[in-house]
Amino acid sequence: MSASLATVSYIGATILFILSLGGLSNPETSRRGNWYGIVGMTIAVLATIFGPRVTGGGIAWIIIAMTVGGAVGLYAAKKVKMTQMPELVALMHSLVGFAACTVGYASYIDNSITFEGAAKAIHEMEIYVGILIGAVTFSGSVIAFGKLSGKINGKPLLLPMRHFINLAGLLVVIWMGNVFINAESALGGVFPLILMTLISLAFGVHMVMAIGGADMPVVVSMLNSYSGWAAAATGFMLSNDLLIVTGALVGSSGAILSYIMCRAMNRNFISVIAGGFGTGDGGSAKKGDAQAPAGEVVPVSAADTAEMLKESKSVIIVPGYGMAVAQAQHTVYEITKLLREKGVNVRFGIHPVAGRMPGHMNVLLAEAKVPYDIVLEMDELNDDFPATDVAMVIGANDIVNPAAQDDPDSPIAGMPVLEVWKAKTSIVMKRSMASGYAGVDNPLFYKENNRMLFGDAKKMLDEVLAVLKS
Ligand code: TAP
Repeated sequence: MSASLATVSYIGATILFILSLGGLSNPETSRRGNWYGIVGMTIAVLATIFGPRVTGGGIAWIIIAMTVGGAVGLYAAKKVKMTQMPELVALMHSLVGFAACTVGYASYIDNSITFEGAAKAIHEMEIYVGILIGAVTFSGSVIAFGKLSGKINGKPLLLPMRHFINLAGLLVVIWMGNVFINAESALGGVFPLILMTLISLAFGVHMVMAIGGADMPVVVSMLNSYSGWAAAATGFMLSNDLLIVTGALVGSSGAILSYIMCRAMNRNFISVIAGGFGTGDGGSAKKGDAQAPAGEVVPVSAADTAEMLKESKSVIIVPGYGMAVAQAQHTVYEITKLLREKGVNVRFGIHPVAGRMPGHMNVLLAEAKVPYDIVLEMDELNDDFPATDVAMVIGANDIVNPAAQDDPDSPIAGMPVLEVWKAKTSIVMKRSMASGYAGVDNPLFYKENNRMLFGDAKKMLDEVLAVLKS
């Protein structure tokens, strides 16, 4: 393939990636967005393999690597459960970081192209920064994977003088950068490069370990952004324009998503990075603790729940992580259809950080074919709860916790929540009294107008559906 055809293909792929991002911003156009992305990536890969920069035996190596990588990716994607998707994404981000590091080292030791003067300094700067971002992304993503999969405790690890440790690390990295750029020989640059890589790896571990369970949504999108910048840095090292553009697109869209997540949780980015928000121990409500909510919980049966739903004029369903675990979305829609046929106004309230990844609930409801016009965002229907007969919470916990508003000492204080307790009756469907991802007690369970429907969401909803049908 000629250089000009490769360039035209790269421009075409870039346009498709931009269209893809545009499509993915709305559930109705997201399928199309996905296709734009697939076609764009296929063009990009083909233009790279058959482009002028890959010669001779290079193609064979690329095909072998792609076959192995593609097979592993296909297997992982087929095997992964929807609820494990955030972990898989975190693991993928770690691979981007790892690739940036290895490309950086390869570019440094590759002596087939020699740079002189300013070009040499720029090239070495690209290598240094690329490895730095790559190493932080790699180790941070591995820890995020551990935390999201429950292999590492979600509790923030707050080392004494941690900010000074980070600052000292940063100063050494800057100093090593100076030593690296001014190294007389390639060998002389290896030591500062390795030292910087080790510090960056430690920084990535330390940064994500310090972040509490409740801030994990921001971490997921932040690492997404970092992986984009790592890819862009790789693009600079390889002088590949498409990789630079694609990396910048991922980097900036991840940064925007982090901002949206921060706003959804009423947090600022710096305090997220500073860490310590949300204990993340996932234990049950601690009785006897001064902060622990007190009172009796009132259990309700599936049959009574069905009766209450049938008698209602207006119902708001709030799905959370438990609905994803139980795969209850299809039954939820069956119930919704039946109630709507009976003239009940049923709507869904979606919290921006419900579940374990951005848009998690929207994806599940779209899969069950719930019409988009009854799926509303938190801000669109939070004022409607007082006029609602039943607010049905399906496997959600943190996102409906009134302590976020009422208890200034709560680890989730200030996070906007769906005000389900303002409905005439709220029904919480979950298996036990265990807390949610942030490990925070939930006073909602003890409110007078709240009922607890204990059990697996799918099983309970099947029972509700059976009563509604009878
Ligand atoms: P959570 O607060 O985690 O609560 C989910 C609840 O579902 C649990 O209390 C659990 O209680 C219940 N549950 C689990 N399996 C169930 C099943 N099979 N049937 C019925 N219930 C089940 O979830 P949420 O309200 O959706 O809030 C999301 C949390 O995750 C927030 O803290 C958020 O910050 C965090 N987070 C979000 C993201 C993104 S980007 N969305 C990423 C990482 C973390 P039982 O065990 O008693 O059943």
